[in-house]
This record gives sequence, C-alpha cells and structure tokens, in this order.
Amino acid sequence: MNHRGNQKFKLAYSEIKIRKSYPSWLNQAVFYQIYPQSFLDTNDDGIGDITGIIQKLGYLHWLGINAIWINPCFVSPFQDAGYDVTDYYRVAPRYGTNHDLYRLCREAHRHQIKVCLDLVAGHTSLEHPWFKASCRPKRNKYSDRYIWTTTGTSDAEVPLSFIRGYAPRDGNFVANCFYFQPALNYGFARPAADQPWQQSVEATSPRETRQALLKIMNFWLGHGVDGFRVDMAFSLVKLDPGHKETIRLWQEIGQEIRTQYPEIALISEWGNPEESIAAGFDIDFMLHFGAGGYTDLMLDEKCFFRRHNGKNINNFLNSYLAQTAKTKGNGLISIPSANHDMKRLCADARTMKDMKVIFSFLLTWPGVPFIYYGDEIGMRYLPGMESKEGGYGRTGSRTPMQWGTGENADFSSAGKDQIYLPLDPRRNRPTVQKQMADPRSLLNHIRQLIALRQHAPPLQAEGTLIPLPVKTDDHHFAYLRQSGSERYLIVLNPSVTPTQFTVEGIKVHNLDPQLKFGTQAHINGDDIRIIMDSVSYGIFKL
Ligand code: GLC
Ligand code: CA
Repeated sequence: MNHRGNQKFKLAYSEIKIRKSYPSWLNQAVFYQIYPQSFLDTNDDGIGDITGIIQKLGYLHWLGINAIWINPCFVSPFQDAGYDVTDYYRVAPRYGTNHDLYRLCREAHRHQIKVCLDLVAGHTSLEHPWFKASCRPKRNKYSDRYIWTTTGTSDAEVPLSFIRGYAPRDGNFVANCFYFQPALNYGFARPAADQPWQQSVEATSPRETRQALLKIMNFWLGHGVDGFRVDMAFSLVKLDPGHKETIRLWQEIGQEIRTQYPEIALISEWGNPEESIAAGFDIDFMLHFGAGGYTDLMLDEKCFFRRHNGKNINNFLNSYLAQTAKTKGNGLISIPSANHDMKRLCADARTMKDMKVIFSFLLTWPGVPFIYYGDEIGMRYLPGMESKEGGYGRTGSRTPMQWGTGENADFSSAGKDQIYLPLDPRRNRPTVQKQMADPRSLLNHIRQLIALRQHAPPLQAEGTLIPLPVKTDDHHFAYLRQSGSERYLIVLNPSVTPTQFTVEGIKVHNLDPQLKFGTQAHINGDDIRIIMDSVSYGIFKL
C-alpha cells in the first residue's frame, strides 16, 4: 500500500499512549540489577557485599543508572541464593550489616539512584523461626503461618507440591518452588468445604501472614528503600483461578503501603501484565515464562535478535502490544536484558556488535529498561558450570563482575578457591576498565543510549510507540517514538542480510542521526529511504 499523499502518517498498529498512574520517576528510570554475591567484594572473603555496591555507585551514576534492584540480601541458608529467607529484618552477615544497607540507601540517593529490594513474599527458608514453630506437633501461633495438610500420610488431590515426612507434625507442607521453600499461608481462593486445612483468605492466619508482609515492607521503606521487586508475586493465594484473590490481596497491600509511601515502586515477577498491573504493580517483566514474547525476541535459536533470525519481529510485537493494551495505561512493562534466572544475552555466538543492536532496542523501547549487571560490558553466560546455591543452569549467568585487569578481574582479592564462583577464564574477557577507555565499546554505547533516552521524552517509558509495518520476510524492524511534536525513528537490523526499505508517507524536514552504525537514511519526497548493512542500527531525530 502506498500512503503517499496521505496527510496523516498511516499506522501499522493503533498508537499506544500510556496514561500515568504510577510514580512519575519511572518515566525516566533505567534500572540496574545487582546480584550482590557477584558484584564487588570489599573484605576479601570472596563474596560481594553491600560496601561493594556503595563503592560502585559512582560507576552506576556515570553510566546513567538511576535505580537499582538488589537480589535478596537477607539472612538465609542460601540454598536458593537467598530466595530462602530466614530473617526478613536482617542483612545476611556475608553482605554486611543493616547499617550498611541503610547507608547504601543514603549514598545512592546522593547519586540520584533509587534502591529497590527483593521481597520474597511467597515462601521462607526451612530455618525461618516461623516455619520451625509451625513444624511442632503442639499448636502454636505459627501453626497455620504455612500450609499444612491434616495428615502426614496422604496428600490432598490438588495441584500443589507437598513435602512429606519433614517434621514431627502430623501433616505435609506445601512448597512454593524448591522443597526447602515452604509456602506462606495467604489462604485459598475457594477453600474446599471438606478440606479444613484450606483456609479462606479472610481467615485469621492468612490475614496475619498478610500483616507480617506489610510490616516487613514498612520496615525497609522506613529505612529509605524506594520499592520492591516482588518474587513470584502471582503465587500467594493458592488454587486461585485467574489469580483473582491474589490480585485483590496486592491491591489491598498497595493501597495501604502507598498511603504513607506514594512514590515507591512495586515491581512484580509475574510475567502477565494484565493481572499484575490490575493488582496494583507499577511494573511487570516480560520474561521467559508467562504471557510470552520474550523468547521470540531474545532467546530462541531463531529469535528476532539473531544473525540468522528465522522470525520477523511480529510474534514478539503482537504479544507485546496485546499485553500493553491490557495494562490500560496503569503500569509499565519491562523487557530486561536478562536476569539471574535466564541465560545472559551474550551467549552462543553473539558478539559485541550484536549486543549493540539489542541495546539500541532495549533503551529506545517504551516501559522501563532493566540492565542485568555485566550485560553492559557483554559478560558471557558460562555454560556447564557446577551448580551453586541452587543455581543449576542459571549459575553461568551469576559469575563475578569483571571490573578490571587485575586478579579475579578486580572483583575480589580472595584466593581463587574462595571466590563465590569462578570467573570467565578467557584472557580477553570484557572488563569495565577496558571498555571505559574505548569510545567504541558496548559500555560507552550503552552510556550514550541512556544519556539520549534521558534527554529525549519520546524515548522514555511513556513516549508513544508507533511500530512501522512488518512484512513476513523482514529481518529488520523500524519504529517511531513520539512525545508532543518531538519524534524519533529507530531502525534495527540484527541479521546478516543487508536490507533497504522505505518509510512511506512521513513528511520530515530533518533527519538528524543520534547514534548509528552501518545505516544510511535519506529524505526522498514524503518518504525516508533506509539502507542498512548486516548487524546495524540507527536512531534519528526527525
Ligand atoms: C524467582 C526468583 C528465582 C527463585 C524463585 C524462588 O523466580 O527469581 O531466582 O529461584 O523465585 O524464590
Ligand atoms: Ca565480601
């Protein structure tokens, strides 16, 4: 179709305008995820610590980061890297003290960086005093803080995982994820009348669990924390079709907590924005599970961001647009560069050049970007690592940050055998030090992209997205971002195949390149002609 002569630029999809009902700072936020054990070790025990994060705030600020999310840093037996909490009110000694964390908040704020903690709301460790008390045969205040069946000899016939034979109590408990993560009792959506162990969400014990969670949130917010990423946020109420009761629960918690802290960010690990944003979360992630789209974009062998991409952008795009529409503008979607649960982007055959194209997308896309530590220098996923702290296949994404050219890449001065995880052994492994000094590095590319985003309202979370038409065999993708009268055109070609195309019927006077590689663009009447090499990108101000 030719749109020549049309006054109005013809849209491939209806414009998506995002309405604000979340803290306004999220519009400009660029998050950085820190896996604390692998970030920086300052007391030579081989494990990263809070002081290490404080020392690197200057670096994060230099990069343009204005918010961080730290994986759980509380007392824990670390059978699942800290997602098995024993004391929600105390920083794990291996990371430092509560005072270090309070200081981190203060220092981060001096650098205009917000701090979000990881809230493991659905389960605790087996060592949590609540759980220990609930294991006792004699009834006590915590007997129903977790979900226990009425006998220890048979399971109920419901789709939950029961752990049998763990405790002297006559009953089996429900595990939320691994066996050592007993599910906290927030009740059942529709407790079965003949199953008295299934309590309603309004019963005393589930209400007490809810209060206990609120108390934890209030405690950390009172010490200067700016929000939480909530672990498995969808998992709280059991046997809950459509997560209706879980949504209600979070609405209540959000309302209560925001009366005192209206500016905090609540971020869910849910993977279904339709539900999570309705539940009152400000941000939900698009992930390798859930409503879909991420795998088609980043992870599949034939996903869009591969040199031999067997898919055009449409699988991802359709899923993304559908999910965005369902948020009704009440919240934002984040497409993370990776996280501690998935393979890093820099895996398989991906190179720095590929990474630059991917980050050109991530940092010009609506919603809130999350950069997983080390992705900014293209740290590699290390395949085949021995599992550490319940990491299994995820372990290769959790290796120590590569800062410099010294011993252990300047992550730690501890001996090799004391280091949390072995480092990428390659001699030419990327480091912050090398990439800071190289103006053409991935790190400097990302720094420029962030600076551009933070100066250009169209590129921020709420800027309107206008994807341009995609033909079946397109290996490239082009879109506009717009806010007021300001507009940007972004073109990406992750594939090995060079490409040329025309953006039709878009009358512009200027085509001002901001960042580009292997890309040429010319105004041609009412059209823009784009010529792209293999693996290339271009961002133009119109
Ligand atoms: C979330 C975390 C993951 C953890 C699991 C259980 O998915 O991201 O690392 O293993 O929850 O808490
Ligand atoms: Ca340490």
